[in-house]
Amino acid sequence: MDSATRSLKKYEAEPIAVKTADGSSGAMELFSPFGPFIAKTTLPSDVISRINQFVDHELAQAGVRGAEFILPQALVEEGGEHSLMQHLANNIIAYHEACENSAVVSVTIEAVWIVNQPEGSPSPVHFHSSDVSGVLYLQTPAIDVREEQRNYISGRNAGYLNVLSGGKQPLNKSLISFKPVVGDLYVFPGWLLHGVEPFRGSGERRSLAFNAMVEIKG
Ligand SMILES: [Fe+2]
Repeated sequence: MDSATRSLKKYEAEPIAVKTADGSSGAMELFSPFGPFIAKTTLPSDVISRINQFVDHELAQAGVRGAEFILPQALVEEGGEHSLMQHLANNIIAYHEACENSAVVSVTIEAVWIVNQPEGSPSPVHFHSSDVSGVLYLQTPAIDVREEQRNYISGRNAGYLNVLSGGKQPLNKSLISFKPVVGDLYVFPGWLLHGVEPFRGSGERRSLAFNAMVEIKG
C-alpha cells in the first residue's frame, strides 16, 4: 500500500477509535448527527437457505457463475410470516419509523433481485429509484488476504459494500466500507450512492437487492 492510499484510508472507511494521550480510549465522545441512516440487521438462516437453494438450482441450470436476475414473486412470498417479503417489510418499517418518526402506512417492495459474482466482477457506484433500498448477503467469497489489505483509492475495500455520501471534506467522513457476512441485511435510502469493487479470491459474492416504496401517515 503506498503512503497516499494509507493516508486516505486513515480518514475513510474504518470505524473511529479515539485515543487519549496515555493510550486509553473512551475519554472523548464523537457526535455525527447529520447524514443518512444505514441500518444493519440479520435475517434467519432458514430464509437464506431457501433463497440459496433456488439460486443454486438456477445457476446450475444456466451453467453460469456470474448472473443477475429477478427472484420469482412466489419465492419472495413463500413462508407466510417467515417469508423473505415479511422480513424485508418488517425491517423497512422499523428502519423508516426510527429515522422519520412517522408511522408507516404501507410498504411496497417493487423488485427483489439476485447478484451472483465470481472474482473480478464489479458493481459500479449507483443509486436506486426507490424510497428505501438494501442488500442481503447470501454467500460470501474467501477474499484473498493481500487483496483485502489492498485498498482502492479513498479506502474502498475489495468485495465490500462501499457506501458514499458527498465528497471528502475536512473533519467529515464520506465513505463507509462493510464486510459482507452471510445473513447480514443493510437498509438505506434509495438515493444513497453505493457500489462494490471487484475482489480476487475463491467462491462467489452472492447478494440480494431490493427496491421499496414507503407510504407514511399524513
Ligand atoms: Fe444497489
